[in-house]
Amino acid sequence: MSFVNYEQKDFVGVITIDREKALNALNPEVLADLEAVVDAIDADKTRCVVITGAGQKAFVAGADIGAMSTMTPDEGRAFSAKGNAVFRKIEKLPMPVIAAVNGFALGGGCELSLSCDIRIAADNAVFGQPEAGLGITPGFGGTQRLARTIGVGKAKEMIYAARNIKAEEALRVGLVNAVYPAEQMLEEAMKLAERIAGNAPIAVRQCKKAINMGLQMDIDSAVAFEPELFAACCGTADQKNAMTAFCEKRKHEPFIN
Ligand code: CAA
Repeated sequence: MSFVNYEQKDFVGVITIDREKALNALNPEVLADLEAVVDAIDADKTRCVVITGAGQKAFVAGADIGAMSTMTPDEGRAFSAKGNAVFRKIEKLPMPVIAAVNGFALGGGCELSLSCDIRIAADNAVFGQPEAGLGITPGFGGTQRLARTIGVGKAKEMIYAARNIKAEEALRVGLVNAVYPAEQMLEEAMKLAERIAGNAPIAVRQCKKAINMGLQMDIDSAVAFEPELFAACCGTADQKNAMTAFCEKRKHEPFIN
C-alpha cells in the first residue's frame, strides 16, 4: 500500500499525500512513496502537477513527530537530508507544480508547499513552522525557502515564534497566491493547472528555468541567461503555430510539444 496516490488527468498530474489518520504527516515511508511518485512522472505528457492532501483537514501536518521523537543526531541528519532531497526533486521538476493546500500545512507541510511553484489555499488552511516549539529547526527547507518567499523579517518572526498563520494572512504576506472556500479550492487549483497546461509546454518550462535559476544569479548573469532560454523557444513548432495564427488573425492549433 502506498501513502501517496498519483492520477493523470489529461496533461495534469495530481499527487495526493494519503495518510489521513495522521493528518498526512510525513514519516520515512511517506517520503519514500512521494519520491517514487515524483520519479515516475512522465515528463512528456505532464505539463503541470498539483499536490494536495487526502481528507478535509490537512494538506500535511508536518514531519511525523513520533518518528522524530527518538532520533539521534545522525538519524536526524539523514531524515532532514532525505526530506530536503525529495522536496528539491519536486522544485526541480521541469513543469510547474501547484500546492493545493486543503487545511493544515505545518512544519514539513509548509515546507512541501514552499517547494512548489504556486500555492493555492482553502479558507481553512493554516501555515506555520512550529519546530522551535518542538525543540528542533525546520528540517525540510523551511529556513531557506520561507525567507526567500515572504521575506526575511516575516519568516524569522514565524519561525522564531513558532506562530501559525491562517489563509488570509498567508495571502497578505504573499505565501499563497489565492484563497478559495474549502469545497471549491481543488477545483480552482485544477483550473489554474489546466490553464498552464494549455500554454506552450517548452515555453512554460523555459520560464520556470529562467525564474528559478535566475533568482540564484546576479542580475547581469541572469539577464545574459534569459536570451538562451528565449532562443530555445524560437523555431519550435509551438512558436510557429501561435505566432502564425496571431499574424493570420485566427486561433492557434493546440500546442504539441
Ligand atoms: N506527526 C505525527 N502525527 C501527527 C502529526 C505529526 N506532525 N500531526 C497530527 N498527527 C496525528 C495526531 O497524533 C493524531 O493521531 P491519533 O489520532 O493517533 O492521536 C491525528 O494526527 C489527529 O491529530 P490531532 O488529534 O492532534 O488533531 P487536532 O485537530 O486536535 O490538531 C493539529 C491538529 C493542530 C494539526 C495537531 O495535530 C498538531 O499540532 N500537529 C502537529 C503539527 C506540527 O507541529 N508539525 C510540525 C512537525 S515538525 C516538522 O515538520 C519538522 C521538519 O521540518 C522536518
